[in-house]
Amino acid sequence: MKNMNMNMYIQFVLIWSFVVLGHGLSRNLPIISFDEGYSQLFGDDNLMVLKDGNSVHLSLDERTGSGFVSQDLYLHGFFSASIKLPADYTAGVVVAFYMSNGDTFEKNHDEIDFEFLGNIRGKEWRIQTNIYGNGSTKVGREERYGLWFDPTDDYHQYSILWTKAHIIFYVDDVAIREIKRTESMGGDFPSKPMTLYATIWDASEWATNGGKYKVNYKYAPYIAEFSNFVLHGCTVDPVDLTSLKCEDAPNTKIPTGITPSQRAKMESFRKKHMQYSYCYDKRRYKTPPSECVINPKEAERLKRFDPVTFGGGRAHHGKSHRRGQAVAAI
Ligand SMILES: *[C@@H]1O[C@H](CO)[C@@H](O)[C@H](O)[C@H]1NC(C)=O
Repeated sequence: MKNMNMNMYIQFVLIWSFVVLGHGLSRNLPIISFDEGYSQLFGDDNLMVLKDGNSVHLSLDERTGSGFVSQDLYLHGFFSASIKLPADYTAGVVVAFYMSNGDTFEKNHDEIDFEFLGNIRGKEWRIQTNIYGNGSTKVGREERYGLWFDPTDDYHQYSILWTKAHIIFYVDDVAIREIKRTESMGGDFPSKPMTLYATIWDASEWATNGGKYKVNYKYAPYIAEFSNFVLHGCTVDPVDLTSLKCEDAPNTKIPTGITPSQRAKMESFRKKHMQYSYCYDKRRYKTPPSECVINPKEAERLKRFDPVTFGGGRAHHGKSHRRGQAVAAI
């Protein structure tokens, strides 16, 4: 009887691990090689494609950071990469995985950002998410979070789902933020075709405690590893921005929204790990932007985190990057 229970237990565990693993967000989406989807943006040999063609190392040293860019422009889709961040002392280092069309629309660009902010030794990396729509750079919608794992130990999957109706940021299988398009946001919701970017660069001016801790090149090179590239969306011809070509693989399962159980997980993540939200930043917004729903308990909880400084936005995809001089703009 005891053995029987043990067997059932093992079966139960096996089935559940299968279900949980099988639930992977991009389970059925094609993983492409670096060359199939991306090209180098800057950084000379600080970008290194590994032999298998499926992984890339981006490094930052005293000469330059580095970055890559998708070959195609996309309007909506599911975009994902597994990333392993550099360990130890990484203050001032920023790794960004984001979408932007700042090259095409200089005055009214859109952007969807994951930014990873390095830290001093013994303190964890934090992630920041943000969006801009149609040049809304005066209204930063940043949020910052700690993670429930050490992102320097192993690869983790970071994904952006972008549809007409919402944007969802995922870390592994966990939705960490959902931005619903609301009427009152107007053009602030990203709505024009964008390219994907990944960069590593020196953001000493702002990234760690508002610039208190700078990049220390004694610890260089700082290497961020990227793998498992998913670029699954509608591509747009850069010459004719209205021409849409949508992938239509019958077995693909792009998440189209958040299930109730994912929503519960998301709420619990946010209660535990969110350290900053623009909605609660009274220094920046006397009246929070219209989409904000204020929870007094949350306001109280967020007070205990360090004040933050922002240098994101245009800085990480500015023209300076193409020249390989990663200069923070703010
Ligand atoms: C986006 O900006 C352009 C130029 O500033 C403007 O003409 C257009 O109406 C805006 N679109 C939206 C959806 O707000």
